[in-house]
Amino acid sequence: MLIGKTAAITGGSGGIGSGIALELASRGADIALLYSSNEEDAWKICRRCQDAYGVTAVPFLCDVTDFDMTKRVSDGIIKTFGSVEILVNNAGITRDKLMIAMRKEDFDDVIDVNLRGAFHMTRHILPFMVRKKEGCIINVSSVSGLTGNLGQVNYAASKAGLIGFTKSVAREYASRGIRCNALAPGFIETQMTKELNHDMVRVQIPLKRFGTPEDVAKAAAFLAEADYVTGEVLRVDGGIAM
Ligand code: NAI
Repeated sequence: MLIGKTAAITGGSGGIGSGIALELASRGADIALLYSSNEEDAWKICRRCQDAYGVTAVPFLCDVTDFDMTKRVSDGIIKTFGSVEILVNNAGITRDKLMIAMRKEDFDDVIDVNLRGAFHMTRHILPFMVRKKEGCIINVSSVSGLTGNLGQVNYAASKAGLIGFTKSVAREYASRGIRCNALAPGFIETQMTKELNHDMVRVQIPLKRFGTPEDVAKAAAFLAEADYVTGEVLRVDGGIAM
């Protein structure tokens, strides 16, 4: 159970982010739901967390690419909740193109949100965790970061980068009681995958279905509660990258 803990989740109004918010709330965690667009959805998810599970859930506007804004928001979360025990770096985007057609902005934007965003949030929240000698950081990577993928040079690089980031933070802060792990989802039914040809993809997945945000959320909750797991990359992919 996560009663008495506060979880900050970036990209919290998106498919996987909202699933993680609800799952952690169901286990008793208070929720700081960070969103960059879709304010209405952010409030809706917070209300669901409160009504269904009786926890405190507060939305915070936060663009993770903005270092100063992430600092202000991190301070605001600490002011509101007193502490943050769980940080989920989930915000992410794709700008898929073949390498030869990829523009500088396609590369930069994806690195800025997916990798630099995780650095910004972790940089600001970690000092509070170190002071409390308790913390759990979960970075949402991807199987693309493990295997590479056509049209995803930028995305795969950002997600592979997150894995190196995860293991380095895990090593640096294990002695302070802080764990850092990554999730590597496969194909999950969200806005991000809605353009794909689902039938063509499904046949390649050993479990023969797309994952749901709830599938990823259960794995996130496992990592939040698994006191002896750090530096791990947990695939949630129906077996596609085994
Ligand atoms: P989504 O598009 O529903 O959610 C992404 C969220 O990130 C949105 O809420 C969006 O507003 C937020 N975001 C985008 N730019 C931001 C910024 N600058 N600052 C703060 N937030 C920002 O997509 P989904 O699928 O829920 O993605 C969540 C995470 O899971 C991403 O990191 C994605 O790369 C990862 N993932 C998704 C997979 C899938 O099949 N859907 C597979 C593997 C990983």
